[in-house]
Amino acid sequence: MDSLFEAGYSAYSSLILLAITVTTVYFYYDSTYSFFKKQNIPGPTPLPFFGNLIEQVVRVIPDLEIERYQKYGKVYGYFDGSHPILNISDLQVIKNILIRDFDSFVDRRNRNTNGIMRHTLLSLKGNEWRMTRNTLSPTFTSGKMKMMMQLMSGCADDLLKSLEKKAKSGEDINVKDLFGFFTMDVVAKCAFATETHVQDMGYDNPFMKQASQLFTPPKTRMAIRMLLPKLTMVLYKLTNMFKATKTQDQDSMGYLEEVVRSIIKQRSEMESNERSYKDFLQLLLDAMQGKDLEDQENLKETELHHVNGEEDQQDMRKGTLSEDSVVANAILVLVAGYETTATLLTYTSYSLAKNPEKQEILRKEIKAAYEAAGNQLLYQDISSLKYLDAVIMETLRMYPPVVRLSRQCTKDYSLEVDGKTILVKKGDEIRIPSYAIHHDNQFYPNHDQWNPERFLPENKDKLTPYTYLPFGGGPRNCIGMRFALLEAKLAISKTLLEYRFIESNQTPDKIDFKNALFLLTPGKIALKVEKL
Ligand code: HEM
Repeated sequence: MDSLFEAGYSAYSSLILLAITVTTVYFYYDSTYSFFKKQNIPGPTPLPFFGNLIEQVVRVIPDLEIERYQKYGKVYGYFDGSHPILNISDLQVIKNILIRDFDSFVDRRNRNTNGIMRHTLLSLKGNEWRMTRNTLSPTFTSGKMKMMMQLMSGCADDLLKSLEKKAKSGEDINVKDLFGFFTMDVVAKCAFATETHVQDMGYDNPFMKQASQLFTPPKTRMAIRMLLPKLTMVLYKLTNMFKATKTQDQDSMGYLEEVVRSIIKQRSEMESNERSYKDFLQLLLDAMQGKDLEDQENLKETELHHVNGEEDQQDMRKGTLSEDSVVANAILVLVAGYETTATLLTYTSYSLAKNPEKQEILRKEIKAAYEAAGNQLLYQDISSLKYLDAVIMETLRMYPPVVRLSRQCTKDYSLEVDGKTILVKKGDEIRIPSYAIHHDNQFYPNHDQWNPERFLPENKDKLTPYTYLPFGGGPRNCIGMRFALLEAKLAISKTLLEYRFIESNQTPDKIDFKNALFLLTPGKIALKVEKL
């Protein structure tokens, strides 16, 4: 009798427990995930705890971005875990967020930014970001880029040596690796004046090994990081606290940090007349010691004019860099400059091999400028050749290495799309789907055809403003744009003067993208080169 009663009691309490759990989950779900429903904003249905992250992990991002863009239109909402994200592709609103009302969207949301990397321009917020951006901007002026071109040119000569070997042997080239070694060589030289020999050694080079590991985490680790960002953060803090075994990312970052700190130490031990470095690190160290005042005065020429009025400019001028900030931003140049530009060069060479007649037009243009300048490539030619510019622009349209932009609202804000008012609260995240906009037939007819002519000066009036965002927009756009364009144009120009990109029987008809967080990363692309 007693045992019967106990069994009934236990079933009863289990039922109550279940009811409490279901009710709690329901209220959690309803309070968290009704965020967009309440505002009548469409979007994919979220799952408890994960939101819409699972789809982001299992699907290839460019396909998913286009599918959502076509299904839900100019405004839709989804969830990164429990974090709501408002996706906006209305062009007027994009302009307002990036430029007119930048003051309400200064920041990006930080995800798992720990250790030294929290000092980078990419992660900083508010006034700290403004001061650092202002201090770093003079290192990216066209004058400084001209100076960097010499370093880049040496690396491009080594690229030609690698191509010579491949052309002689007739073997296929994995272009992503080839250009990855080239861009790593460039950033290591331009950021820290460091000779890595990476174009000879490839992945055996420790620098390359560590830096590339930051971009190619194993799938399981990437999935855990995306699906359980809070757990990743706690694990990071615990490993730090107990000095336990470090993750691969921490190891790689630690390695790069050690390299930069030891270079800073070597330089501080030198007599000042011995220090004639012209790399980013030296420019940052000069900024740390307030030596860049002349360029600070010239900021109007670069970017200061974008940011909110006199008051901000006063604030911005006060910026000096700490040593941590110098180290972090020197590493950022390496990290931000390596993968993005390597993929740009990969997509460009692939598109040129697929379109031999356009490759010929480009070669003729480069050759004419080269011969007119007495058999040399001049900075002003590289920057102003029209077909070259159109080739790079079209490649960045079709394959933007960064698939979407992100801003965090810094002041409550209301926006209007198609007559509907939407309230955005401080802390909310907005995303702008650049890849999907670049592939909208309305703005780019036959969007899946690579057609540089769209970007020739005579056709530029057919383009719609704010539909081209490979480097983002407004005061928080890509600070390295000039550097990346110069590097890519120089590499392509030098190559086309001596070689022809051609398809091999392994060249894919269509590029398979890898599953990556927000970078458009190609799978293996094989090409051949032919000596002219
Ligand atoms: C083809 C090459 C590259 C592409 C497509 C690219 C694209 C981008 C994009 C889309 C953003 C976000 C902009 C926004 O939110 O409006 C960005 C930010 C940034 N990029 Fe690049 N990038 C490239 C190369 C580089 C290089 C070479 C460097 C450094 C030398 C660099 C440094 C940065 C930094 C520091 C930021 C953060 C700027 C800030 O928050 O103030 N990028 N980049």
